[in-house]
Amino acid sequence: MSIQIKTVKTTRPLPKPDQSDLGFGRYHTDHMFIMDYTSGIGWHDARIVPYAELELDPSSMVLHYGQAVFEGLKAYKSRDGRVLLFRADKNAERLNISNDSVCIPPIDTEITVEAIRKLVDFDREWIPAAEGTSLYIRPFVIATDPYLGVKASATYKFIIIMSPVGSYYAEGLNPVKIYVETKYARSVKGGLGYAKVPGNYAASLKAQVEAKKKGYSQVLWLDGIGHKYIEEVGTSNVFFIVGDEVLTPSADGTILAGITRATSIELLKSWGMKVIERKILFSEIADAMNAGNLKEAFATGTAAVISPIGELCFDGRVMTVNDSKIGPVAQKLYDTITGIQSGKIADIFNWTTEV
Ligand code: COI
Repeated sequence: MSIQIKTVKTTRPLPKPDQSDLGFGRYHTDHMFIMDYTSGIGWHDARIVPYAELELDPSSMVLHYGQAVFEGLKAYKSRDGRVLLFRADKNAERLNISNDSVCIPPIDTEITVEAIRKLVDFDREWIPAAEGTSLYIRPFVIATDPYLGVKASATYKFIIIMSPVGSYYAEGLNPVKIYVETKYARSVKGGLGYAKVPGNYAASLKAQVEAKKKGYSQVLWLDGIGHKYIEEVGTSNVFFIVGDEVLTPSADGTILAGITRATSIELLKSWGMKVIERKILFSEIADAMNAGNLKEAFATGTAAVISPIGELCFDGRVMTVNDSKIGPVAQKLYDTITGIQSGKIADIFNWTTEV
């Protein structure tokens, strides 16, 4: 399916930021994509316009009841000047899983991918080329009915904005310290843990703030019922290498089925490693640690790609993983994924598409 996307070019292009100090999400490109939804009409009026503030009725439902979803993906500039998108089709599919979770009408996945491609192309000079940088793409949908009763909105806006980024964590690829959270819960089965909805991220803030005060970068979430099973690290999926097995929690309702998670699993399997997706007790990992069998722990996500875990604090006890150094598997995953994303390594999986 193809759509007409009207374009309006900015008359006031912004200066590009210094590529050596981008951080994450601090800057935005010159343009954004917007498409409206009206019940009875469907999605309409796709357009690329200068990046600007939104005009929203203060009664807009998203502001009161959080009916919204989002995605995150990246575009890269390769050394030979090509612009590459990584697995955008997967983000478009997951957007609809999230849409369904909060009663937002689906968006044709081909339209989502086309909108992303066109916006990336429009602002292609914003894609940074320095090592470790990329253009982070943030599609999101918000409910716009001006109404204070609780119901599914009849109008929405699908918006895509973009931000040139460096590394997500200040630590870069250095191992991060993680606090094992036993008080707060992120989600429970039957809830929205599997969807990329803002509420999940709002629900993670208090634990994150408290962990930061204790000197930790992020929390390791345990299940919301008994606080026994491992779920996610901060906003990322998590992997443990125990002996010669790679363990990761199964994505069965309470965690996000990450695209970097799926990519990592496919790569690890292609290297002949044994990857097991199952429920994992935190006590198993602690036991493996005590027995000297925990080789590596790392998180996977679009923003940070691979984030090694150097320390876990559980119940006041500090456990150091792999001497707080990045392990060989985490390093190989990072090098391979970012190598494919940036066109340095041959893409035998067909994960990238050129814009
Ligand atoms: C990711 O790992 O890509 C995330 O979900 C983090 C993002 C919300 C900034």
